[in-house]
Amino acid sequence: MKRLLALTAAAFISLPLAPATAQDGTPGAPDAGDPYFPGQGNGGYDAGHYDLGLDYDPGSGLLSGVARISARATQSLSRFNLDLVSTLFVRSVTVDGRPARFTRSGSELVVTPPYRLRDGRGFSVVVRYDGRPVHVIDPDGSMDGWIRTSDGVYNANEPQGAMTWYPGNHHMTDKATYRFTVTVPSTRVAVANGDLVATVRKSGRTTYVWNSTEPMAGYLATVSIGKFQLSDARIGGYRVITAVDPQLAADAKGLPERHPPVLDYFSSLFGPYPFSSTGAIVDHAPEVGYALETQTRPLYPRAPSESLLAHELAHQWFGDSVTPTLWRDIWLNEGFATYAEWLWADKLGTRTVQASFDEAYARAADDEFWQTPTADPGGPANLFHDPVYDRGAMTLHALRRDVGEDAFFAILRAWAAEHKYGNADTAAFIALSERVSGKQLDALFDAWLFQPGKPSL
Ligand code: ARG
Ligand code: ZN
Repeated sequence: MKRLLALTAAAFISLPLAPATAQDGTPGAPDAGDPYFPGQGNGGYDAGHYDLGLDYDPGSGLLSGVARISARATQSLSRFNLDLVSTLFVRSVTVDGRPARFTRSGSELVVTPPYRLRDGRGFSVVVRYDGRPVHVIDPDGSMDGWIRTSDGVYNANEPQGAMTWYPGNHHMTDKATYRFTVTVPSTRVAVANGDLVATVRKSGRTTYVWNSTEPMAGYLATVSIGKFQLSDARIGGYRVITAVDPQLAADAKGLPERHPPVLDYFSSLFGPYPFSSTGAIVDHAPEVGYALETQTRPLYPRAPSESLLAHELAHQWFGDSVTPTLWRDIWLNEGFATYAEWLWADKLGTRTVQASFDEAYARAADDEFWQTPTADPGGPANLFHDPVYDRGAMTLHALRRDVGEDAFFAILRAWAAEHKYGNADTAAFIALSERVSGKQLDALFDAWLFQPGKPSL
């Protein structure tokens, strides 16, 4: 992970006041320093791989988990934190196979290894835990995390749900690869990110093994469970794995085949599709209401429309492969995905990009909408407000009109290529736009990204 501001929660555990020496190491920071979500993420180490073994009973809601985390110390470390909600019970923690002491403090699992971990050292942590995961409610009132449905789980984790079902370094700046081994009753299917590598059926239970080999932020991980119809096919050069709630089979007819045309079009504009497989999880979850760009395999609460499909697939480049550095940069996800919806509608001949822009721009100058500058929606309750999506998309269109067709798409391709599997912020996007276009764009970005009020054209 990248180091952010060394902002630490003052309310955090206090130590006996013996000054730490290099010999003892020092504690890793209890969060990543993102002002929107104090406590989220941790410092002092970088997680590289999560091997999650999960056993779930949809009837009782009981989860039993073993999380094996491979990490590397980024400082001399006396202890470190993982994020996990306090309602899940931790049975044991080991570091490199040796029992480690641990305490709980809110959503922090504080681990003290038996010995100091020197800077740069690789280590592995195994956490055994169980309990009944429950979702959390986000600052905007939406459900987030392990959300139970009538037949399983709708597992959507943006921005803070990952801590509701597995321990980890849950800020998006610490990406890692994943392997999910999920056991459910054979009447259910467990779907996760990446490639399905094994399905093993034994005495009424089925284990699904999913491998996610490209780096992924925790909020993009999913283990969704239900009575899904699973389809795994090679179509147009893509491995398309879809899971559809049987209630939605008719609505989702032909869904696998709808993916390649969208991905081909976006590849021609943004550069190669960044992942080894694609697909969708279509669940019946009207009480959740929102879709999520879970990596490789977006999660939908209903059968997706063409524009929702385009939106979530565009996120695979913008959001998933290239991920913001701080939550306030969320327009780099939502503005881009909204703009891609406009591009796809234009390609289909449904509506031109200009018409989409004009409709969004037609909001009256005194509309509340214009009070939120694109580059910072003003707090976690506004992460998914209209200005993030629509003003974000309009910002890109304004850029396109200023720098011209060729430079604009060169900027988008460079953004996807230069930050592939990484994190980048708004300042980096501005710098890139100026470099690629060779133009000074301060005035444009200032009006569209940083100032409240309706920018003039
Ligand atoms: N990123 C999702 C999308 O635009 C929206 C997630 C909303 N999450 C939430 N907790 N309200 O597709
Ligand atoms: Zn989105």
